[in-house]
Amino acid sequence: MADNKRPASMERITTSELANAFIDEQLAALRAQIGDKKVLLALSGGVDSSVVAALLIKAVGKQLTCVHVNHGLLRKGEPEQVIEVFRNQMDANLVYVDAVDRFLNKLEGVAEPERKRKIIGAEFIRVFEEEARKLDGIEFLAQGTIYPDILESGPVKAHHNVGGLPEDLQFELVEPLKFLFKDEVRVVGTALGLPANMVYRQPFPGPGLGVRCTGAITRDRLEAVRESDAILREEFAKNGLAGKVWQYFTIVPDFKTTGVKNDLRAYEWPVVIRAVNTRDAMTATVEDVPFSLLQHITERITHEVPGVNRVLFDLTPKPTGTIEWE
Ligand code: XMP
Repeated sequence: MADNKRPASMERITTSELANAFIDEQLAALRAQIGDKKVLLALSGGVDSSVVAALLIKAVGKQLTCVHVNHGLLRKGEPEQVIEVFRNQMDANLVYVDAVDRFLNKLEGVAEPERKRKIIGAEFIRVFEEEARKLDGIEFLAQGTIYPDILESGPVKAHHNVGGLPEDLQFELVEPLKFLFKDEVRVVGTALGLPANMVYRQPFPGPGLGVRCTGAITRDRLEAVRESDAILREEFAKNGLAGKVWQYFTIVPDFKTTGVKNDLRAYEWPVVIRAVNTRDAMTATVEDVPFSLLQHITERITHEVPGVNRVLFDLTPKPTGTIEWE
């Protein structure tokens, strides 16, 4: 356990100078740990794995292989950004795995939320394992574990663990961020030159849009989640809410309601907007989004997203509602 306790002497990283000192220290430590060996990293494009990737690219360059699994439940533009930033700009070894069909086929007809989560988690391990087996001589597995994952202090599920890999694929762990809090990871990420929209991303659950396409996921309804989420994010960014609201997203429930489009009856899905603030995700309050902005977003979603004729705003704090809908 001593290994897993943040040293009392460790100063809180709040400035770019402190971040640069941390980076220098970690580069030396990573080079000492890894030597000339090879490291593997599951790179989701989330804040933590992105910062680990940027550190390791600096420390050991092409000795690092990043594996980005697109499970089809990512937000609009995310896989493209991972490829652009890490392969094109940082010149990393990046294996991009298009596993969209594989995940969506496995999830077909599965309505129960915890089963959906289990399938997504298990399939992720399987895809990652297959990629790991294709690579020779990997000795280390890097993970974006951060201090709250170790403390397990909140209901934000520990997701930084490619645990579940079979016995013969046990690597030595490399966890350079394990004593950092989220705000510190962001300062370090900025100092490493990662784009602000990657470093200041809102939390995103491991099962991704899968828990926002309630019940059994269908491809067309999943696209409605992705497109409406992209519109919401664009409008929040334009109107100064992106940096202010803790988490905001859309849900498309698995039922339709009657509406009218172009003078014709349109039996289509509703989109639900959720925008909440919290410190630790244990409780949450609803953001007071300006009504005129909600009207504008409604106008856009109902006109731009196929299959949607209605928009609702979720007024429920946590408790009684959880942040996600499933
Ligand atoms: P709830 O819905 O429980 O969510 O109020 C609290 C926070 O946890 C995130 N969340 C998840 N994160 N895997 C994750 O990595 C999950 O299965 C999961 N479920 C919820 C949620 O987005 C919110 O920030």
